[in-house]
Amino acid sequence: MAQLWGGRFTKKTDEKVYAFNASIGFDQRFFHEDVEGSRAHVKMLAKQGILTEEERDQILVGLDGIEKDVDVGKLLITEAYEDVHSFVEANLIDRIGDVGKKLHTGRSRNDQVALDMRLYTRNRVEGTDQYLKKLLECILRVMEENIDTIMPGFTHLQKAQPITLAHHMGAYFEMFYRDRQRMADIRKRMNYCPLGSGALAGTTYPLDRNYTAELLGFDGPTTNSMDGVSDRDYLIEYLAALSTVMMHLSRFSEEVILWNSNEYQFVEIDDAFSTGSSIMPQKKNPDIAELVRGKTGRVYGALMALLTTMKGIPLAYNKDMQEDKELAFDAMDTTDACIDLFEGMLSTMTFRKDKMRESARHGYTNATDAADYLVKKGVPFRDAHGIIGQVVLYGIENHKPIDDMTLAELHQFSDVFDQDIYDAISMETCVDTRLTIGAPGREAMAQEIEKCRAALRD
Ligand code: ARG
Repeated sequence: MAQLWGGRFTKKTDEKVYAFNASIGFDQRFFHEDVEGSRAHVKMLAKQGILTEEERDQILVGLDGIEKDVDVGKLLITEAYEDVHSFVEANLIDRIGDVGKKLHTGRSRNDQVALDMRLYTRNRVEGTDQYLKKLLECILRVMEENIDTIMPGFTHLQKAQPITLAHHMGAYFEMFYRDRQRMADIRKRMNYCPLGSGALAGTTYPLDRNYTAELLGFDGPTTNSMDGVSDRDYLIEYLAALSTVMMHLSRFSEEVILWNSNEYQFVEIDDAFSTGSSIMPQKKNPDIAELVRGKTGRVYGALMALLTTMKGIPLAYNKDMQEDKELAFDAMDTTDACIDLFEGMLSTMTFRKDKMRESARHGYTNATDAADYLVKKGVPFRDAHGIIGQVVLYGIENHKPIDDMTLAELHQFSDVFDQDIYDAISMETCVDTRLTIGAPGREAMAQEIEKCRAALRD
């Protein structure tokens, strides 16, 4: 048991208490951030004359040595230490002797852990952003290749109007683009350095908090030391943003699962991204999409857990806050892996353009356009709606899309129908005449794609 405290205790810590209290099992994740923070701290202490330059250099050499030894596996981070902070400090003292005991001058583990977690989270926010960028690039490629791929658009999971695959993908581009914007917002708002907040009330040493913040790439120090040690808002925001990413991925997964089913056959998931059944030889299952959909729950769980942990904590630091780590780490790992796997599945998936087009053609998705055709010929919309309703009923009874009916058949419902009806309700016309901003028509889509390209450039 290596602990940084004990002077005022008369008994050894109970073993179960020690294990229950320890965080080394999970906070070793930010070992590098802990060392980085300590480097900045000693540099600042020396600049302020609190440590001599010689002491600073000895400590820096010691920290470098510990980092290198851990990286090559020569020094193991073990349960013998209470937490990663104790591990670094104890090893520093072992290595460079008494001067190592000066590292913690003007610092508390409260502002130290607040710093480490923030540095670690900042890296992870940037990492998630890069995974999202790669996914967006993949979605954009599918859009570029499918401006003319006609498919049914759905509402209530009922075929509604023809759209294109590019248009459908474009909706997901927007979602994941907003997710990237959320990452950027979080990074900006969180980028203030809590180190120097001390245990809660700052310190009596003349610390230069601006300098420490600058060394660690922050935009400045946090403003209030009590908030500095007890703020985990940035992590809650990140978990909320990850939950939103997962919600988007889950919707997308659900569609891939439907599209990949025997009933739809709009897509075929690549063999490398599918799995088989142990009993049914014919099966090729969309497990990746299902797992992504399923893992959404545990990411939401991490968000709810942290919100709940934080809700009753009085100022300033309380040990409850150690619970900010494990589930948050799991949510970060899970979400990044899901984005990555989903991108792999999407980039290798085959789109069955013929099936999509046939599905759009056979679902009366051009009924609105047929009604609009009558309106353009002078029929009031409500009447046109009724006429086409009857045409559709006739089609259903006779297993015929409107396009396949003869003019004589159409004249049973209205004599306004003319030869030009066929062109007016072709799938191509239905899509290409939808030209308002954000619509699937070729011109509108080309502009949308241009915007998406630009969004990925900056
Ligand atoms: N392991 C602790 C945590 O994660 C570090 C801070 C400990 N501070 C304290 N006052 N016991 O929150």
